[in-house]
Amino acid sequence: MANVTFFSGETIPLELHKVRIAQKLQFPPIRQRLQAISEACNNTFLLETKDIFLDMLTDSGVNAMSDEQLSAMMRADDSYAGSATFTRLGDAVRHLFNTAFLLPAHQGRACEHILAQAYVKPGSVIPMNYHFTTAKAHITRMGGRVEELVYPEALRPESRELFKGNIDILRLRALINDVGPENIPFIRLEAGTNLIGGQPFSLQNALDVCALARAFKIRTVLDASLWQDNLYFIKTREEAFSHMSTKEITHTLAAAMDIIYFSARKLGFARGGGMCMNNKGIYDELKGHVTMFEGFLTYGGMSVREMEAIAVGLEESMDEDIISQGPQFIAYMVGELKKRGVPVVTPAGGLGCHLNAAKFVDHIPQTAYPAGALTVAVYLASGIRGMERGTMSEQRDPDGAERLSDMELVRLAMPRRVFTLSQVRYAIDRISWLHEKRRVIGGLKFVEEPANMRFFFGKLQPLGDWEEQLAGAFEADFGDAQ
Ligand SMILES: Cc1ncc(COP(=O)(O)O)c(C=O)c1O
Repeated sequence: MANVTFFSGETIPLELHKVRIAQKLQFPPIRQRLQAISEACNNTFLLETKDIFLDMLTDSGVNAMSDEQLSAMMRADDSYAGSATFTRLGDAVRHLFNTAFLLPAHQGRACEHILAQAYVKPGSVIPMNYHFTTAKAHITRMGGRVEELVYPEALRPESRELFKGNIDILRLRALINDVGPENIPFIRLEAGTNLIGGQPFSLQNALDVCALARAFKIRTVLDASLWQDNLYFIKTREEAFSHMSTKEITHTLAAAMDIIYFSARKLGFARGGGMCMNNKGIYDELKGHVTMFEGFLTYGGMSVREMEAIAVGLEESMDEDIISQGPQFIAYMVGELKKRGVPVVTPAGGLGCHLNAAKFVDHIPQTAYPAGALTVAVYLASGIRGMERGTMSEQRDPDGAERLSDMELVRLAMPRRVFTLSQVRYAIDRISWLHEKRRVIGGLKFVEEPANMRFFFGKLQPLGDWEEQLAGAFEADFGDAQ
């Protein structure tokens, strides 16, 4: 991705790829959207593709693949054991992280399942910069507890802090002393911290965390699912390391970590996952879980075609022209929305543009799910599907009390190389319109609430007729136009 400045003075992110396979999109009119969101029970996870214009739900498994990835898929070797495809994937992981051993798994949460199964027991404490939904669910399922150690600034949606994903080392040391290192099976560091707006940690902070963990003989685990974004930000924001190549930065971090796991739906631009490490003892501790839950050690539940695509995608993750595309598109969208007064998470992170629902719809209390309501409103105003990342994405306490989220965000994910700049400009326009009409938006309440990960399948109802009113306001301003 190149940032080019036009003769007029406008600077835009310019695509360094061309589109060679296209998928036709639907552009449902407002009345169809109103009906669709009602049928989806006000949960965007329950919408169908036929009712969506731009799908910004997630980047997971929906990044555009390269011609090199697609052609690699044709040479897959599907031998159950000893597959040449696994050898190629192993080589790519070794090249990327400089690690000796690879354990394949069908996706990121499968790695989290195995790590929790192997190391977490009742009473365990897992310090981390911030939780990810599935990581936390696996830890608590085994009786463990998550301790989040980001600095307070990380939870301020609008900030100048460049590395909101950093761990507060003083709090980490205090926690280790408090609970005892023997009760901490591992420290988890998440790259491109998903739930706080795709925010990176600095390489220096990660190295400091690892040094402290080593002093107490505590394992370190890197969730590298969003490493390509974090890597881009280290390269462009952390002066002390920006002279290093992407590969050198990756190797420096990997050498300090005991275990690295990743969702290849994100890192590697395909669909799969894996864990890698240098320590044979750790490899031996975990490999039985792979054969038990995932598959044989040469595929781990993945299709061999996807493994070939991942191998190429991992190599491509070292290419700055490729990994800059997401962050630069996101920075453009965040910058333009900010200029129009729309509250967004700053600095712009990776993964997607995050609307700050707590401010956008500050008249909706957290118990009425402001981020969920804004996600619905964005869909109505634009046909764009985003994801609630706020209180709806939390789980109730065991006593049934609502656990209010630190932040109320709407994530508009930017899968890599999928959208064009005119589509991003459309999103900016309709969201700015919605911001003007924000007082119309009301809250939501659950009518069907699963106990676990309720945000996936929960069903909700609007409080009042605000959705109808918003559709009316849209028609008044745009007529039949989408
Ligand atoms: C940071 C992070 N870790 C883990 C996962 C889980 O990966 P998967 O969806 O492949 O199970 C995700 C998925 O979004 C993620 O963003």
